[in-house]
Amino acid sequence: MLKKNIEKMIVDQVNFEIYSAYIYLAMAAYCDDNDYPGFANWLKIQWEEEIFHAMKMYSYVVERGGKIVLNKIDAPPKSWKSLIAVFEHALEHEQLVTGRINKIMTAAIKEDDHATRSFLNWFVDEQVEEEANVDGIIKRLKMLNGSGHGLFMFDKELSTRTFVPPVKGA
Ligand code: FEO
Repeated sequence: MLKKNIEKMIVDQVNFEIYSAYIYLAMAAYCDDNDYPGFANWLKIQWEEEIFHAMKMYSYVVERGGKIVLNKIDAPPKSWKSLIAVFEHALEHEQLVTGRINKIMTAAIKEDDHATRSFLNWFVDEQVEEEANVDGIIKRLKMLNGSGHGLFMFDKELSTRTFVPPVKGA
């Protein structure tokens, strides 16, 4: 059985991952609306990844005898001032997620909950990748400095991203 405080933190994070997915979908819609289909594709895959994160936590809570409670999801922003602003927001959001995962990990350590610690290790590693991916896009966008041809090529490159569910336990 999960301790109540740990259960609550993970269930809150299930909700937050779904909110994260919603933000990425709004970002994808912004990119579709501004004729960046490749960036929109990348963000839609991100949406799928967030749902995957939510469901991975959902299954863990159920497996440990906890109860999932879903809350109202806030509306995401409707617009951003530029393409780069979309990804700067994404990075800021991922850093927020990293902070939340770290807090759950700290609580699990305090409670001597080794199963939760082991479970959360996957998310700790995942957040390193999530932040690095978004940061990489921001750096590329800065390098391109608004070049139409460069943006077109980058957009094409991002259109090839596909969702690959991580293997169980990986
Ligand atoms: Fe679920 Fe992008 O963190």
